[in-house]
Amino acid sequence: MIKATAPGKIYLFGEHAVVYGYPAIACAINKRTEVEAEKTRNKDITIIPKNLSFKSIKFSFGDENRYNIPKKELKSLEYIRKSIKKILDKKDQKIGLKLKINSELPISGGLGSSASVTVATIFSLKELLDLDLSRREVANLAYEVEKDVQGNASPCDTFTSALGGLTKVEKNKELIKNKAPAIPIIIGYTNQQSNTTKLVEEVKELKNKYPTIINNLFNNIKKITEKGQKALEKKNLEEIGNLMNINQGILDSIGVNNLKLSKLIYVARESGSYGSKITGAGGGGCMIAITENKEKVSNAIKVTGGKAIKTKLTNEGVKIT
Ligand code: PMV
Repeated sequence: MIKATAPGKIYLFGEHAVVYGYPAIACAINKRTEVEAEKTRNKDITIIPKNLSFKSIKFSFGDENRYNIPKKELKSLEYIRKSIKKILDKKDQKIGLKLKINSELPISGGLGSSASVTVATIFSLKELLDLDLSRREVANLAYEVEKDVQGNASPCDTFTSALGGLTKVEKNKELIKNKAPAIPIIIGYTNQQSNTTKLVEEVKELKNKYPTIINNLFNNIKKITEKGQKALEKKNLEEIGNLMNINQGILDSIGVNNLKLSKLIYVARESGSYGSKITGAGGGGCMIAITENKEKVSNAIKVTGGKAIKTKLTNEGVKIT
């Protein structure tokens, strides 16, 4: 039996603008998905999920029509099924497997839950079946799975989950991994799912309508991200916070905020944060705050109807436990 865990991620700066080639910075967080994998005597694949959107399921490849779960819930299973297939295809063997999967990450919350499930599944199986794959190769396989399931995807989530640490993302450039800064953060979850595809589409429409305005805003996000990177290196909390607040103002102006997120962002600031902003696509999902008053800020988030997620930035990518 092998157990692997892979982290989720947050965006510190640059989401949405990154879709148009501007830089962004993400970082792995110590909220993880654990996959416990073992071989079984028969040829069935059994998946036992905890905190995912479907119940336990048993199937064999070629027999998928037997699935009897609603389409919406099927998506979570698809990341796992395609990850298993990627590894079994490499082994060219028909074997039975049992996978127990447990995630600490909210689904569609902007914290990279699908990437962490995919990376942890691939990593646990490559260990179980003795395949020689580096973390980068695991990240690439997981990216292929995400693209396959979603139609398109950013390589950021799978890369960050596989390697850990801070990721600098820039279109058509290799992703760069740096050390995660030791800065105190709190995540606030709205308890609403975030629809990345829809929000990216809405931003595209706004950009088509007002190209000069939106391009200027994205250019400013680029400057914020570049300054933000330096502030992160220096662990200058005040500057990181200020830049997050400015980045948030721009995210608000391109229409990816909503009332619940906005309330969490403002209560976090008012209860003693250096800065706070949406993380990821917005329109629900999560916000982040940089704060040394973690108790006060998480209480304020809870009182405002959100879920406070206490975590740390981490250098640990996918690993065997
Ligand atoms: O909410 P997430 O984790 O799916 O992040 C979306 C980030 C965007 O920049 C809005 C889209 C993207 O593909 O980069």
